[in-house]
Amino acid sequence: MLFDSHAHYNDSAFDDNRHELLSKMQDNGVGYILNAADSMRSVEEILDLSDKYSFLYASVGVHPEEVGELTEADMEKLKRAAEHKKVRAVGEIGLDYHYDDVPKELQKKWFARQIDLAHELGLPVIIHDRDAHSDCLEILRERHVEQVGGVMHCYSGSAEMAREVLDLGFYLGFGGTLTFKNAKKVQKAAAAVPIERIVLETDCPYLAPEPYRGTQNSSLLMHFVAEKLAEIKGISPQDVEEITCRNARNLYRI
Ligand code: NI
Repeated sequence: MLFDSHAHYNDSAFDDNRHELLSKMQDNGVGYILNAADSMRSVEEILDLSDKYSFLYASVGVHPEEVGELTEADMEKLKRAAEHKKVRAVGEIGLDYHYDDVPKELQKKWFARQIDLAHELGLPVIIHDRDAHSDCLEILRERHVEQVGGVMHCYSGSAEMAREVLDLGFYLGFGGTLTFKNAKKVQKAAAAVPIERIVLETDCPYLAPEPYRGTQNSSLLMHFVAEKLAEIKGISPQDVEEITCRNARNLYRI
């Protein structure tokens, strides 16, 4: 059984086929999906979805590109939202230096603040790190993230950095990019990370795996990722599914 540890089914890209897709999951081997929040508005949307589908879980948190206008009152709102029984993590939070819409200092402030929120709630974190590896690791260490645990989602760093993330007790999330022809670095990292510390994800509607690269992604395409990881690890796709599903259930305490 597959566990999609990071999805965005609230995204408007699914407005035309959300229910059609979600109603197919359980018959196609997808047993669990966690929708990751990325803005204040998305929190409400994914909690609504979690009420409608038994296999959907949720996180609360604000993506680094959305922190521009955050306030302490929003932190209180997230805290209250986290009382919902399907909320299993704080995220996705982190740093994104790819675009410079939000100043770095502001990103760092709200990243640290939301790790503190995870401590307050006793929940693991879902980390978004794009082109910000060293600042990201520094804040994770400084805020003692090893006490709450978490996952480095859509891992894109080197095998060396993966070791530092593993030292924090983290899981690493791999998705469609693992199947891309030019993804040698990610494939090397996946080879270096023990299977016991890997979770699978889609980040859908983005990052569809080969041979569907560039189209709308969904958890129904995740077996292409499982097959690629099986090839890298030299084990069966069934074992990959079982082990990564167990890992995600441990991570999110399901
Ligand atoms: Ni995401």
